[in-house]
Parts: sequence; structure tokens; C-alpha cells
Amino acid sequence: MLLSCTPKMTEYKLSDLEAGSEPHFHLDGRKGSFTASVGVNDQAESSASLVFYVFTNRGIAFQSEVMHKGDAPQRIHIELKGITDLCLVAEPVSGGNANELADWEDAKFLVQTPPVVLEEEVEVRYILTPPPAAAPRINGAKITGASPGKPFLFTVAVTGERPITFVAENLPEGLTVNRETTITGTCEKAGTYRVPLTVSNRAGTCRDTLEIVIGGGLALTPHMGWNSWYIHQLGVTQEIMEKSAQAMYDHGLVNYGYTFVNIDDGWEIKADSDDPVVGGAPRNPNGTIRTNRNFPDMKRMTRFIHSLGLKAGLYSSPGRTTCGGYTGSFGHEAQDIRSFVDWEFDFLKYDWCSYGNEAKSNELDELKKPYLLISKLIREAKRDIVLNMCQYGMGDVWKWGKEAGGNSWRTTGDLGWNTQQLSASMFQIGFFQEQIREYSGPDGWNDPDYLLFGNIYDWKNQRVMLSPYSSGEHYTCMTLWCMLSAPLIFSGEITTLDDFTKNILCNAEVIDIDQDRLGKPGRCIYNEGMIEIWEKELSDGNTALAIFNRRPLQATVDIDWKALGYDDSHHARDLWRQKELGKTSSIASFDIPRHDCVMLKMKRTSS
Ligand code: GLA
Repeated sequence: MLLSCTPKMTEYKLSDLEAGSEPHFHLDGRKGSFTASVGVNDQAESSASLVFYVFTNRGIAFQSEVMHKGDAPQRIHIELKGITDLCLVAEPVSGGNANELADWEDAKFLVQTPPVVLEEEVEVRYILTPPPAAAPRINGAKITGASPGKPFLFTVAVTGERPITFVAENLPEGLTVNRETTITGTCEKAGTYRVPLTVSNRAGTCRDTLEIVIGGGLALTPHMGWNSWYIHQLGVTQEIMEKSAQAMYDHGLVNYGYTFVNIDDGWEIKADSDDPVVGGAPRNPNGTIRTNRNFPDMKRMTRFIHSLGLKAGLYSSPGRTTCGGYTGSFGHEAQDIRSFVDWEFDFLKYDWCSYGNEAKSNELDELKKPYLLISKLIREAKRDIVLNMCQYGMGDVWKWGKEAGGNSWRTTGDLGWNTQQLSASMFQIGFFQEQIREYSGPDGWNDPDYLLFGNIYDWKNQRVMLSPYSSGEHYTCMTLWCMLSAPLIFSGEITTLDDFTKNILCNAEVIDIDQDRLGKPGRCIYNEGMIEIWEKELSDGNTALAIFNRRPLQATVDIDWKALGYDDSHHARDLWRQKELGKTSSIASFDIPRHDCVMLKMKRTSS
């Protein structure tokens, strides 16, 4: 007798499965179904729009049209035979938080074994950057600017075995090589000077040309450096800053172009504090700003930073107090710039906090006012100070930041405020920057905030934590920032850099794309099913391509080179692996882990 046995199917509702924002389920691969009805939430703003996806181990199982508020819900029905992984994603088309906008109505599994909700993968971090070669290589910016008659300092970034010999020919009058590869002095005469560089060591010789532009802007490539905020927040001290500068030097970040060592908020007096270390009178009787006791000697600190071939930065706010409640510059702007110059700082991050109480409205004139004032004072000062405007993108700052005297401007709120949602914020903020790319370029850069790698501070739990970015998300962030020509300011713990974080921060070929002198942010040339391909024009006539897999699962991305505008005369080089991949005709597809990317330099060759 033949016994027929129907497997027992059980219903599991999504609402009972306690999944995160991009839920990932592990299934038994047997018969079953997933069903749901999707749409944009009634509470969403009228402009909200979303695309819903269901990804499985076999690729895209469902992709909705772009859905707007008020659209009739779309039904999803997926047969689960052969499916072991299933992920749900709602992707905002025009910004906004997908979790708040998306409705997965009546979403349920009908299966034999309960679906297992996979926690964020804690994967082994994979290092792709090869160690630097013994032979010298000149890295980072090949163009730098300063004002006539003001102190100049530029360290040529060089990797390779030490000792090296360094020769810079035809330096403009007033500049000399000071220490190893650092050029200092004062050049009085405006102009563009082409300086041939030669670096040699036991293993070889490297030649390049540095363009020194006197009188043509201060930030001709995006700034590179470190800022104290996301690791030390308001607990920063002079000792920490000096140790961090030393670490930037000792870990070799200086050899890749990292230059600025910037104190964020917390060096000033906090007038309303009872703590004798930070409390007290905010200013001297003559109105000059006072540092708190954590910063006993600013000048000693900046001189130490300069002695390493690095530059020093600090922070202030145009309001009466900073975001942290410390002394702001309101009413003392000229005095403060005099102090910053006297202390020999090279960079100022100028926030907005509490200035809202002084501004008469949100009109553009009022938004511009504090920045026009501070930039004028800086221009009149006897020292160059790079100005980073930090007003979170208000009034589309990218449209007028340069005219207000900024060398860069934050385009959004704080990327790392919500450490629980860090990866989602980085994707949202990073990929959004493409829409405002045309406003970013030499001497005026869009700034999507810092590189949150390594150990960072977790506000919610008041402790230091390892960056919650997965490996792929680290590569995506660094690649995206370089494709965007964004400032590369690392803001994690720098004194204890692990090998993985160093590999992300210190890939000379990846950094070359960020520091390319053309300074033209890349654009998205393909966007389908959460696979994006970006292209960036480079000053040597070649291009960089980045292929981003924004999906929550690994993807095989087939490349149609012709459609992308590349023919057989092109060769591809994998920049993260620093490896030639050969002719486009021999490359059909890329396997890219979840949330990861591939970054290529495309070269036209005659053969
Ligand atoms: C604001 C800025 C941050 C940081 C803090 C300091 O939130 O956006 O980058 O400077 O202020 O208080």
C-alpha cells in the first residue's frame, strides 16, 4: 500500500519574527511560500516613494514599480522551493527612512520549518590591499595651493622602504625642502609652479610633478586627515591630539596623503560646567578666547603637529555656544581668528549650533552671514586657514558654500550620530551625494562627513565600539567617498589602528582617485535592481569605475561593456587588489559580496 504524506505547513507572520530593518531569513529550501502586500505608509509625506524588493539566493524574486503614497498595494507571492535565503528591502527613491515609510502588510511565510532570522553577519574582515612595495611611490595630491606671502607647508606623500632621497626641483623662491619630503617656507609671488619630484631608495626611483599654485585656492584636492569627534567626542585633550598626530605619522598615514590633525568641539571653556577642568570664564578680560585645562598650550601642540609635516585644525561655532555647549565665536569673530592664527592653526571647522538663536530667519542671507564674516577675516589674516562649513546642508549650502568662502561644506546632518543605523545612514547619505555632484570641485567640496572605521564612540551605550560597517560596507564607503571626491577625514581611534582598518584607509591607488587633480565627482551610469555602476573622469584621460552591490545578498553582476561605453581597447585594473584584470573582452561578470563593490581603473590601450 502506498502511503501519501502531505507535509505539515505552518504560517509564520513577519510581524512576529522580530527582524531588523533589512530582514534576512534562512529557510530549509523545501516547498512553501512567502506572501505580502506592499505599499507606502499612510503617515509618510506626500512626496515619499519606495521600491520594494525581495532578494533570494537566486537573485531578485520580486521588484515593485516605484510606489508612491496612496498607490494601491502590490501583491507578492514567492514559491520557496530551492530558496535558502530571503531578504526584504524597501529602497527610498527620494531620500527618507525606509523603515518609517514601508508597509509590509500581511507578510507571512507558509513553510514546514520555522524561518531563522539572521542577525547582522559578523564576518571575517577581508583585507584586499597588498602591502606597499619596497620601491618608492609618490601618493596623494599632486597639486597644492597657498596664498602669496603666507606660510606654506606641504608633505609629499611617499611610500617605500626608508631611507629615501628626495629631490624637488625648481621650487618657487621662498620654499625649501625642510625634512625628508616636507616643503615649507613662504612664497610671495602668485603663480603656478611645476616642481619635478624624484624619490629614490635601494629598490628604485619614482618621478612625478607637483604643481604648487600660489594664489589660486587652498583646497585644490579634497582634504585628507583625522578628526577627534567620533572617537573622543567632548573628552578630547591636547595629549590625545599629540598622540594622534604621532600615530598618523608612525602608522604611515602621512605617506598616503593624510595631513590634517583636527580637534573637534571640546577644547574651549564650558561656562556652565562645575568641572574645574572645563569650566571657568570663557574669555580673558580683553575678550580673547580661553582654552580649557585639557589644552594647556595650543601653540606647543600645533608646532609639534607641524614638526611631523602635518597640519593642525580646530573647531568653533558662530553662535554663543558650540553644539557641545562650549564657548562659541559670536561677537568675537575677529579676536578668535587672531587667536587661531596666533596658535598657528591651518584648518577651521565652523559649525552652526546655537547660531539659530542669532539668525533672524532661515533666509539665504542669514544662512550665509556668519560664513561670509569668518571667511573674510580668514582671508585678511596672515595665515592660510582652510574653512569647512558645518551647517548640515541648510539652504542647499552646496549651491553657495564657495561664494560664502568655504573650502568644503557638510551636506547633511551627522552621519554617525545613530550608531545603531550607521550602515543604513552611510548608504543613504553617500549615494544621495550623486544628486549634488555638480556643486563639488576644486577648492569647494561637498562633505558627507567622516570615515567611521576602526574603533568609534557609541553614544547610545556610552562606550567605544568597533565600527558596525561590515567588510563590504567599509570598501563601499571608501570607494564611494573617493568616487565623489569627498574629503577623507578618518574619525575613529588612530593610535591603535588594526590591519583591516589600515588596509581600508591606506590603498594608494584608491586614494589617487579621490585626489585626482581634475576634482570631478563621479556619476551613476547604471542603476538597476540595487546594482549601481559609477564612473569618474580622471585628469589623465582615463576613468575610474565602481560597481556597487547595494543588495543584502551576494550578486553576480554581468557587465555589458558596450552599453557602458567601453570597447575592446580598454583594460581594467582592480584598484583594491592592485591587480591587472586584462581586456574588457575577457571580463564578463563580477561576483560581489553583499553591500560590497569593485573599484576599477579603466585604461585605453593601443593594442
Ligand atoms: C555638530 C557637528 C559634529 C560635531 C559636533 C560637536 O553636531 O555636526 O560634526 O562637530 O557638532 O559638538
